[in-house]
Amino acid sequence: MKVLVTGGAGFIGSNFLHYMVNKYDDYNFVCLDALTYAGNYENLLDIARKKNFKFIKGDITDKDFIDKLFSEEKFDWVINFAAESHVDNSIKNPNIFLTTNIIGTEVLMDASLKYNVKRYHQISTDEVYGDLPLDRKDLKFREDTPLHTSSPYSASKASADLLVLAYIRTYNLPATISRCSNNYGPYQFPEKLIPVVISKALKNEKIPVYGNGLNVRDWIHVHDHNTAVDLIMHKGKIGEIYNIGGNSEKTNIELVKLILKELNKEEELITFVEDRKGHDLRYAIDSSKIEKELGWKREYNFDTGIKDTITWYLQNQDWIDNILNGTYKTKYLEKE
Ligand SMILES: NC(=O)c1ccc[n+]([C@@H]2O[C@H](COP(=O)([O-])OP(=O)(O)OC[C@H]3O[C@@H](n4cnc5c(N)ncnc54)[C@H](O)[C@@H]3O)[C@@H](O)[C@H]2O)c1
Repeated sequence: MKVLVTGGAGFIGSNFLHYMVNKYDDYNFVCLDALTYAGNYENLLDIARKKNFKFIKGDITDKDFIDKLFSEEKFDWVINFAAESHVDNSIKNPNIFLTTNIIGTEVLMDASLKYNVKRYHQISTDEVYGDLPLDRKDLKFREDTPLHTSSPYSASKASADLLVLAYIRTYNLPATISRCSNNYGPYQFPEKLIPVVISKALKNEKIPVYGNGLNVRDWIHVHDHNTAVDLIMHKGKIGEIYNIGGNSEKTNIELVKLILKELNKEEELITFVEDRKGHDLRYAIDSSKIEKELGWKREYNFDTGIKDTITWYLQNQDWIDNILNGTYKTKYLEKE
């Protein structure tokens, strides 16, 4: 079994590879990543020397390169984590989001069809559903909730999802889609809320919180996201969409205060800043389909998961410092 994992030097993809490369000795994993600002080869150092792992630097939007790669490697599975993933960046510069997230998906699916890939899996997000009101705790996103996007990021991810569904229907591409809620865990780039809060708090710097901090996110440990993707690859039904959620809704301000408490830092560090444009109010995922149909269960509860995560960042402060001072970019050059 040969598996292509795109975007595997990013947060979720690298955690996925750690899990899968160690679990399936007899599968061969190829990580393809363009090493954009968010890609970090250092995330893969623990598995870099494993016999069943190979890293290739490359861009999913480069049609000729992808065609050659697929013709040489003959992948059985393609799992597409590669994306531009930061909502704030998409508000400043939507164009790269459309190129990577939509065209990149098209290029990978065309190659998957041409070279008879047995399964193409699209890593999507709950953000494609838009948001829910704060005062309707009874409402959650289901797989049939209409797409209703708020940011250029979520619009690009929803576009890619629609393209995957079109390829399934028109060309019989053997594909699946998963839509997950907000992930936390090791190796998350320090532009996202949790690593930003931890790294700033450790330096006693002001911690920016959007608006009034009451926006709600449904947090899931990245390991639980990845066990769900593993299950979908092995047992999921072609043509299906699976929601993956953490069942742990927290307001942003609640989360920030919890992290500060764990770090023994004062709440005075919190500073409220102008709200994000189009800021989604609340995300909540109904994961009952994957639980019932594939038997997926979360292994983490939020309270222990977030403590483990804080401990990881405390024990790996070099990892964040290497990103903040830019030296993480040279790790790949050292490998070459
Ligand atoms: N982070 C979350 O909470 C979350 C939740 C649900 C879904 N997702 C989805 O999961 C996937 C991974 O998210 P993440 O948080 O790990 O993102 P990330 O930004 O940490 O990683 C993205 C990776 O993709 C690579 N990449 C970007 N453009 C590329 C290109 N053109 N060719 C090849 N590689 C390229 C980057 O170098 C990086 O390594 C994304 O598709 C995202 O939409 C993320």
